Amino acid sequence: MARTIFSIAWGLLCLFVAILVKPLVAQQEQQPLQAAKARPNILFILTDDQDLHMDSLSYMPNLKRHLIERGSTFTNHYCTVALCCPSRVSLWTGKAAHNTNVTDLHPPWGGYPKFVSQGFNEDYLPVWLQAAGYNTYYVGKLFNAHTVDNYHSPHAAGWTGSDFLLDPFTYRYLNATFQRNHDKPVNYEGSYSTDVVVEKAHGFLDDAIHALDEKDEPFFLTVAPIAPHSDVIIRRKIISGQVSNQSATQAPPIPADRHKHLFEDVVVPRNPNFNPDTPGGASWIAKLPQQDEENVEYNDDWYRNRLRTLQVVDEMVESLISRLSEAGILENTYIFYSTDNGYSIGQHRRQPGKQCAFEEDINVPLIVRGPGIPQGLQRDLVTTHTDLAPTFLSLANAAPPSKFELDGQAIPLSPFQPASNGNVDAVPASVLDWPQEHVNVEMWGIIMSEGKYGMVQYPNHTYKALRIVGRTYNLLYTIWCSNEHELYDMTSDPYQLVNLYNTNEAPEESVSIVHANISEASCTLIQSLPLGNTTSESPNCNAAGFEKASARSPLVHRLDALLMVLKTCVGRQCTHPWESLFPSGKVRSLTDALDSKYDDFFANGVDRVQFTQCERGYIAESEGPMWDGTQAFPMYEEMAYR
Ligand SMILES: *[C@@H]1O[C@H](CO)[C@@H](O)[C@H](O)[C@H]1NC(C)=O
Ligand SMILES: *[C@@H]1O[C@H](CO)[C@@H](O)[C@H](O)[C@H]1NC(C)=O
Ligand SMILES: *[C@@H]1O[C@H](CO)[C@@H](O)[C@H](O)[C@H]1NC(C)=O
Ligand SMILES: *[C@@H]1O[C@H](CO)[C@@H](O)[C@H](O)[C@H]1NC(C)=O
Ligand SMILES: *[C@@H]1O[C@H](CO)[C@@H](O)[C@H](O)[C@H]1NC(C)=O
Ligand SMILES: *[C@@H]1O[C@H](CO)[C@@H](O)[C@H](O)[C@H]1NC(C)=O
Repeated sequence: MARTIFSIAWGLLCLFVAILVKPLVAQQEQQPLQAAKARPNILFILTDDQDLHMDSLSYMPNLKRHLIERGSTFTNHYCTVALCCPSRVSLWTGKAAHNTNVTDLHPPWGGYPKFVSQGFNEDYLPVWLQAAGYNTYYVGKLFNAHTVDNYHSPHAAGWTGSDFLLDPFTYRYLNATFQRNHDKPVNYEGSYSTDVVVEKAHGFLDDAIHALDEKDEPFFLTVAPIAPHSDVIIRRKIISGQVSNQSATQAPPIPADRHKHLFEDVVVPRNPNFNPDTPGGASWIAKLPQQDEENVEYNDDWYRNRLRTLQVVDEMVESLISRLSEAGILENTYIFYSTDNGYSIGQHRRQPGKQCAFEEDINVPLIVRGPGIPQGLQRDLVTTHTDLAPTFLSLANAAPPSKFELDGQAIPLSPFQPASNGNVDAVPASVLDWPQEHVNVEMWGIIMSEGKYGMVQYPNHTYKALRIVGRTYNLLYTIWCSNEHELYDMTSDPYQLVNLYNTNEAPEESVSIVHANISEASCTLIQSLPLGNTTSESPNCNAAGFEKASARSPLVHRLDALLMVLKTCVGRQCTHPWESLFPSGKVRSLTDALDSKYDDFFANGVDRVQFTQCERGYIAESEGPMWDGTQAFPMYEEMAYR
């Protein structure tokens, strides 16, 4: 009931905001974002494995009241690699995982040692913010394989004050080990990890406010609790690359005593893709058994415990905002709320876990409140974690060294203003100019699952995926290292139940017909493009059948070409990939690219994304042909079309 009222209120609020947009534009022009002082403070709350698609935000009333209703929510925000450590490294460096080569949790493929050996400890966000005069603070989990043995070789750079959770105790809710500044690690047996994080966060906030008062130095404070991650016992102290399902036990997250009794009747939302009767997806996902009652009950309990652990975070949102308000600096502080990657429980029959390119794993919360940011607004521009470092830099008027290429771009936090710091180049002039409709999602190696029915490792599950959201299309396209393909039309199939790609279809075989109800927009898209051999007569959008896509489909050719550029993109190529294919700039979106005059170019001119072997990490030789720019749409042809 309360939620119904909330959603009605929310709907009205959105409508109201929509009606107000025009007058607001004028008002905002008179009151630009610089209403924030030149150097605003930034508070970043980063949770661990928090879902957007299992409704976790609905159980956080303070988050709703202080951030969602007082700030803007970016509904199409994505991580680019759905695994803690690689995702965090991409977030802190502004680089795609294929450019950090931190692709996993542990060496040699990932973890803190890999972050250091790749040279990022000298060159990542906090270092740049410090150089720009910010005091930087961090409390909680930074990376994986950041351990009681390696925390000082070297210390994580760039923090004015830090208090890190360290492996192998990072995920012990009741036996955490923290390591402050350059001190020795301290064990907190018996204390509740997130309560300790909150206390330490307040300590750093006090320091930050003091430095602001005394020396006029702004701050960047990150609070990164482990909630709602599972409770993990890591058995091997030395985190080597020899990970097996014996090296860690992943149990349900443990709530604080005061929250243990909450949400007793709550269960994982029974969306159509929850433990479905028909298996879906490719590869190992298609082979998962349906979960029995006992398994489902165990997973529901897991879910309730996640919501309970988030209550401490929700309390913290309230207490940190109160402190900012008390200090009189709330109006000059940006507050960001997000998580490293999403999470899934039971969708597509999966046990608790992440790492796939399904929406549950990659589409994550991003809520921003601060000076000049519209209140209660939902924004639908496609943004990713690699955009966060550029966004923070833009707010702080800071920059990396010129040789350092960021793969993301600053998010226009208000639809009404060119840039938050008056720097027009930093942000597209308006949302209409936001070039990004794509997300390049990557994964390498082993996909793990958690809990007593999980604890399985699925090796050889490297993939490249493309999530693309435009006005008339909303698609997920995945290519696994087995060369299996998946294509989901998320307008008609938001739960990703019907794989439209017919992997088994030999080019000359007759096409299969899929029976599904599809929306008019996607029907128009799919029917108007021969996805395979067009055997049917003229497109009928009320028909309950259409052809499956295949390697021969013009749409797939476009998606392949885009992914081809993205899989090794660097810098501007990652945000403006069509420019690589069409250097003249004539094609700037999938819509433009779908023009039939380019059919031949896409069908025959560009190599296809494919793998020759499944690897544990980013072994370039096994990832097929690479984009080198020589296949760009021929200039002369383009001239001819003008
Ligand atoms: C807590 O961690 C310490 C090591 O830091 C260990 O010695 C102790 O046995 C642990 N206690 C529990 C209850 O697991
Ligand atoms: C994990 O361990 C179990 C034994 O506990 C074993 O049967 C299973 O094959 C292992 N699974 C993997 C490698 O994922
Ligand atoms: C499509 O929708 C109609 C009613 O809207 C329903 O009767 C029919 O069963 C649906 N078909 C499929 C394949 O879902
Ligand atoms: C398309 O299908 C028709 C009829 O099934 C067949 O005659 C034709 O050869 C096919 N064309 C291609 C290009 O596969
Ligand atoms: C994973 O792939 C590698 C290389 O293709 C192969 O040697 C290995 O046998 C595969 N392992 C499994 C468990 O499929
Ligand atoms: C990524 O790191 C791995 C492990 O060190 C290495 O084998 C691989 O060559 C690197 N990949 C690239 C593209 O540099």
